[in-house]
Amino acid sequence: MEFELDKLLRENIKKLIPYSSARDEYKGKEGIFLDANENTNGAPVSFGKELGLNLNRYPDPLQLDLKEKLGKIKGLPIENIFLGNGSDEAIDILFRAFCNPAKDNVIVCPPTYGMYEISAKINDVAVIKVPLLKETFQLDTENIIKSINENTKLIFFCCPNNPTGNGVKWDSIKLILDSFKGIVVIDEAYINFASYRSLIPELLNYPNLVILQTLSKAWGLAGLRVGAAFAARQIIDVFNKIKPPYNINVVSQKLAIEALDNLEQINSWIKEVVAERNKLAAELIKLPFVLKVYPSEANFILVKTNDPAGIYQYLAENKIIIRNRSSITLCEGCLRITIGTKEENKQLLTTLLNYSK
Ligand SMILES: Cc1ncc(COP(=O)(O)O)c(C=O)c1O
Repeated sequence: MEFELDKLLRENIKKLIPYSSARDEYKGKEGIFLDANENTNGAPVSFGKELGLNLNRYPDPLQLDLKEKLGKIKGLPIENIFLGNGSDEAIDILFRAFCNPAKDNVIVCPPTYGMYEISAKINDVAVIKVPLLKETFQLDTENIIKSINENTKLIFFCCPNNPTGNGVKWDSIKLILDSFKGIVVIDEAYINFASYRSLIPELLNYPNLVILQTLSKAWGLAGLRVGAAFAARQIIDVFNKIKPPYNINVVSQKLAIEALDNLEQINSWIKEVVAERNKLAAELIKLPFVLKVYPSEANFILVKTNDPAGIYQYLAENKIIIRNRSSITLCEGCLRITIGTKEENKQLLTTLLNYSK
């Protein structure tokens, strides 16, 4: 299926001449900078200087140093990377780039990450829901393909999926990529915990593929708000045209660069989380009120119980907070539990052992 970016983009975005910031126009690092109306005296924050942060100066609009470092880890050139204020920013930009409000639609496969639908609603874009298959939580490819119409611009898959935790079969994703001429978005927020690899190499084969990742999960930087979209250069250029000029602040850029140097620490945490996840799953299924523990490729597990509200409340009273997902499509009775530290998981299990309805 031929992909033509120009036909897919909104007219206003195609015509848009993006804002050109001071830091876009002069890229040198040395000199007396009187071009951005900053406070040239400095910033009244003591630790700023200690950390080598120029808080009184606007950040690099394209985050080139951070992208270079991330690109080395991901095996991607800078031109194929967009960085956003969390991957939630990338999700929102996809809507603003491709979906005409009150006209176009997107396909999502519930139960899945809620922001695809919320972003659609904020942008006044219709959502076609094609639920995952019961119990296996795999894609209903036949119905997805049937649901595509001339106004379908984006299809979202979350892999591993939140809140179910499973991976999505490559054959199913490939079938959609081969038969849809809009944008296919694969959200890999939890990929570091999966037993399979990222679809990044497929970017070479599919110009309509957008992969989302984030530093909020395995990288331990949810508070920094740094997410990424990986795609063909023409799509990344569109992201950069739309984003606010300085969307990743100075602190986040600096600290994220430092974090990316600690790959060994991250890999060791990932191993630990995966081992804890498997241990916790094996223990949870022994509890009398647990009906099913769904297999997980992520840093959380979905657990079907006979009393989700009661268990949630009981744990909250014991200062253990989990997520009650029982009101969500296909998740009746389900609780989602993030994998904690060894100690936290032990405490969770001990507390649950004392639960009685
Ligand atoms: C599947 C998925 N995608 C994206 C996000 C948001 O990530 P970020 O913190 O980068 O905005 C989340 C957060 O929970 C998520 O579960």
